[in-house]
Amino acid sequence: MLACKDLKIDFDKKVVLKGVSLHFPANKISAIIGPSGCGKSTLLRAFNRMHDLTRGAHVTGSVTLNGQEIYTPGEDPVLVRRRIGMVFQKPNPFPTLSIFENTISGLRLSGERNSARLKDVAEQSLMDAALWDEVKDRLRSNPTTLSGGQQQRLCIARALAVNPEVLLMDEPCSALDPIATAKIEELMFRLRERLTLVIVTHNMQQAARASDLTAFLWMGELVEAGDTEMIFTSPKKSMTEDYITGRFG
Ligand SMILES: Nc1ncnc2c1ncn2[C@@H]1O[C@H](COP(=O)(O)OP(=O)(O)O)[C@@H](O)[C@H]1O
Ligand SMILES: [Mg+2]
Repeated sequence: MLACKDLKIDFDKKVVLKGVSLHFPANKISAIIGPSGCGKSTLLRAFNRMHDLTRGAHVTGSVTLNGQEIYTPGEDPVLVRRRIGMVFQKPNPFPTLSIFENTISGLRLSGERNSARLKDVAEQSLMDAALWDEVKDRLRSNPTTLSGGQQQRLCIARALAVNPEVLLMDEPCSALDPIATAKIEELMFRLRERLTLVIVTHNMQQAARASDLTAFLWMGELVEAGDTEMIFTSPKKSMTEDYITGRFG
């Protein structure tokens, strides 16, 4: 299980997250919703220490994975990112690497050289990402020859290849058509059996149909969180109700 406690983030003193506490249970899909600019991506990126790479970013509070603090001094952010993978809004396969090399790029970085093992992991990860049948005859092709939905599943395969415990997805379907979106959602349901999934979406229908738990964020603060069905049918806060019924945002 992934959790954060009193998480505060500012960029050059501009406060973006004002102390958010949440937990994301294993084998559930948790959605983070809220209007554009409320801090959803900033929150998600804190979970695998992406802000370490941003100048001026300042993170305080705690993020734990199975009770273990990921911001412990001396903890290697690269190892954190192996346990907590991430998929972005715009599919971002490495354009100069083949489909095969994209899939195993994380393993190569960690020093794996055994070609039989690399081949096995590539095949398994592409199967896990529901892409294998579509690419098995063109593994040496460039990923730019794939559709947007296929590229996004390749990015998921690449994340899965290092066997993460958590998969973070930041608006993974916003560049995709409804059919490609449905495929990613189906995939999320299958991955739920072995992972903790946290998805940011501005699409409330997607949160309602594809998540177990929902957290509603507004201007850097958590308004409320709970079972998705509860949030969408009987939210406790009037602000949540106003947002999900489209009165603002
Ligand atoms: N690297 C950064 N430097 C400065 N401000 C940032 C940075 N990243 C995000 N922000 C600001 O943080 C706020 C929240 O952004 P973001 O987390 O991307 O919102 P959301 O994903 O909910 O649309 C915005 O005002 C944005 O401009
Ligand atoms: Mg965002």
